Amino acid sequence: MTKETFLDLGFQPIANGFLKEGETDNEFFFPLEVALDEDTFLVTQKEYVSPEKMFNDTYAYRGSMSKTMVEHFKNISMTLGAYLDPNPKVLEIGSNDGVFIKNWGTETTYAVEPCGNFAKETNDLGYKTYSRFWNKDLSNDIVAEVGTMDLVFAANCMCHIPDLEETFGAVANVLDKEGLFVFEDPSLAKMINLNSYDQIYDEHAHIFSVLALKNELEKVGMRIIRVDELSVHGGSNRIWAVHQDSSWVENSSVSQALSFERLLGLDMLEVYDRFSTRVAQSKLDLQTLLWSCKDNGHKVISYGATSKSTTIFNYCDIDSELIDYIVDTTPEKQGKLSPGTHIPITKPLGLIEDDINYCFLGAWNFMDEISKKESAFLERGGRFITHVPIVRFV
Ligand code: TMP
Repeated sequence: MTKETFLDLGFQPIANGFLKEGETDNEFFFPLEVALDEDTFLVTQKEYVSPEKMFNDTYAYRGSMSKTMVEHFKNISMTLGAYLDPNPKVLEIGSNDGVFIKNWGTETTYAVEPCGNFAKETNDLGYKTYSRFWNKDLSNDIVAEVGTMDLVFAANCMCHIPDLEETFGAVANVLDKEGLFVFEDPSLAKMINLNSYDQIYDEHAHIFSVLALKNELEKVGMRIIRVDELSVHGGSNRIWAVHQDSSWVENSSVSQALSFERLLGLDMLEVYDRFSTRVAQSKLDLQTLLWSCKDNGHKVISYGATSKSTTIFNYCDIDSELIDYIVDTTPEKQGKLSPGTHIPITKPLGLIEDDINYCFLGAWNFMDEISKKESAFLERGGRFITHVPIVRFV
């Protein structure tokens, strides 16, 4: 693999590593550099953080905290159900708090979730959950215990795992010969077009293009039959893949996605070098805008203690001097400090407090949901700030 580094986001902490007061001294940081594999066009981190450091029993991200995501998984479950025989055997890899599997019956739905806190929750709900990291050994154990699967689903999980050949090979192993493997992750094309470099953090070992996934899946005897463009998580692709020799027919979305990505130049290093220049400009613009708010005596807060905002705040040197506090509905994050920059996280009371004029959208991907919830803030002249696709007031 020839990895060409094109972006350096500096030293970064664990993106979901929220800290209690007094825990800030020995915080772990790592150099976050991003590279293009010129053989497969995979965009990937230069060095990976060990999975155990990120995915453990205190993992804080809860998928069901947003109505948008709850609806999203309900809808895809209904769509997938229509393609499968009644009572399909379903496996979700990376089941988090069960936001997807809750749409399926407990009898023939299985889950894999290395974070013990969430595995316990879904086991308690009656879904057999393997609290282990996904790999060939686990896929062998599952086949031996319960057989092969009609559907393997994964959302925002495949891009978390460094070794894709092992990961996809393990999927091929557990998937019935006519089974469907459906997975969704942030889209590289969207990231490049929106300049949303905050998609890059420890957990996102790779940011996938369809071009790269085609190459990686072919290595394990699988092929892509459909690509859905999704708006969630700031723009994602949902990939439908099957065994090479299955009877599924490829639809036109695959060649369309591949042509579009070639047109964007996702197979050319120069495109990534230009992206890197735009990222550096975005940093300067955001610092300038936030300082101008502060210099004019305004309080600025941030909405959503997201992994994405961990990248932004650490890369752009934004700490509690610039952002007074972060609001987030997730109980696991409240009362803690943001990773690396140690900005306090509080809970929103449903409304942004009256003394706040400006609010940075750490969760810019939920702008519609947040704007509805915070209409009073907007009506009294409050302004959201975003860096996507350029730094601006919304
Ligand atoms: P994500 O962008 O990684 O999905 O994280 C979204 C975060 O934003 C998550 O911690 C929940 C939080 N959030 C709120 O606090 N209020 C909201 O209205 C929404 C939509 C999200």
